[in-house]
Amino acid sequence: MIRISDLAKSVKPSATIAAGTKARQLKAAGVKVFDFSLGEPDFNTPKHICDAAEKATATGNTHYTPTSGTAEVKAAICAWYKSFHGLDCLPENVIVSNGAKHSIHNALAATVGPGDEVIIPTPYWVSYSDLVSMTGATPVLVNSTPESGFKMTAAQLRAAVTKNTRCLMLNSPCNPTGTVYSRAELEALVDAMSDTDAYILSDEIYEQLTFGTAKPTCVATLRPWLKDRTITISGASKSYAMTGWRMGWAVAPAAVVKAMDTIQSQETSCPSSVSQAALVAALNGPQECVGEMRTEFAKRRELTVGLLQAIPGVKLPVPEGAFYAFFDVSAYFKKTFGDKVVTDSLSFCNVLLEQAHVNLVPGVAFGAEGFVRMSFATNPATIEAGLAKLREWLATGR
Ligand SMILES: Cc1ncc(COP(=O)(O)O)c(C=O)c1O
Repeated sequence: MIRISDLAKSVKPSATIAAGTKARQLKAAGVKVFDFSLGEPDFNTPKHICDAAEKATATGNTHYTPTSGTAEVKAAICAWYKSFHGLDCLPENVIVSNGAKHSIHNALAATVGPGDEVIIPTPYWVSYSDLVSMTGATPVLVNSTPESGFKMTAAQLRAAVTKNTRCLMLNSPCNPTGTVYSRAELEALVDAMSDTDAYILSDEIYEQLTFGTAKPTCVATLRPWLKDRTITISGASKSYAMTGWRMGWAVAPAAVVKAMDTIQSQETSCPSSVSQAALVAALNGPQECVGEMRTEFAKRRELTVGLLQAIPGVKLPVPEGAFYAFFDVSAYFKKTFGDKVVTDSLSFCNVLLEQAHVNLVPGVAFGAEGFVRMSFATNPATIEAGLAKLREWLATGR
């Protein structure tokens, strides 16, 4: 008999990775799929970053590094925070991990456990609730709606706080909604936490991808007391097109970093030496590549928003950051497509992929039934053709 642990059984597979896998299977069978499921830039990593990695391999920078990252990478992260956000931090406040997902896992493992509550505003990035559950803590979901711009209010937050609240997770710009909280809105949220002893885990991985007048805010800079209570998460995957390099980090109170370091030392010894050398080049090197990619994403956002808003029955709050459109398709629930009835966001995505070969992720995976998520981090021709297909397919619904 094969025994599987309760922990493994309690974890749901990532819905975005599952959606990507389904599309890959169809593609392998020769089907042309319009895949909008994965949150990854289609750009290649900029050349100067790849060159730094090549140099690392050529010069023997291929060994274990300190568990929490090299002195160079920590210095680069500290310098980047100072120049981008005006945040002062020291190397002892920094730990680099194998992707921001890993950083979040380690941060939660270091700070919460059974009996603790972690507040997560919905819609939320698919992994948050499972990462919390894996520690034995309880995710407490606070619903936000399109009417509030998918923003949790301070009053909602206050109502969710209990004596067991140990952490609040924030994510602005947000995956999946593209919501960007203003500085004042974030101030109201952190102030609602000031008389608790809970950490604020602020996932700011899309901070360099905001559009129009929206501006990113580094939560740790909002109030002096936040430096001792905030775990800031970010990474290179989105801004520097480095998903495969697996570079994420946390900036946190030294004691939290130390606990994360101990956990990481047993989990994985250290992040990749070659990827760390690449990250140093990404953060210290020319930043024009980020601006160029942002400009391209901004054009794709315009294109996506225009095409989606023209589809009857689709309701789309305009995303202000990240690279996702999160739209309401519930007007199509209970309709029949071919021989299939669509009843919810999951069946909508399954039937859409099967019949029109357009791949979206069901909103239910992000805690928002009625919605679907489309990543527009793909080329404009695919966006145009895929959304034309979606529109045609929706028109067949009876
Ligand atoms: C909100 C958010 N946080 C963290 C991550 C993890 O990024 P990575 O592990 O590639 O650094 C993602 C990736 O999709 C994300 O959308």
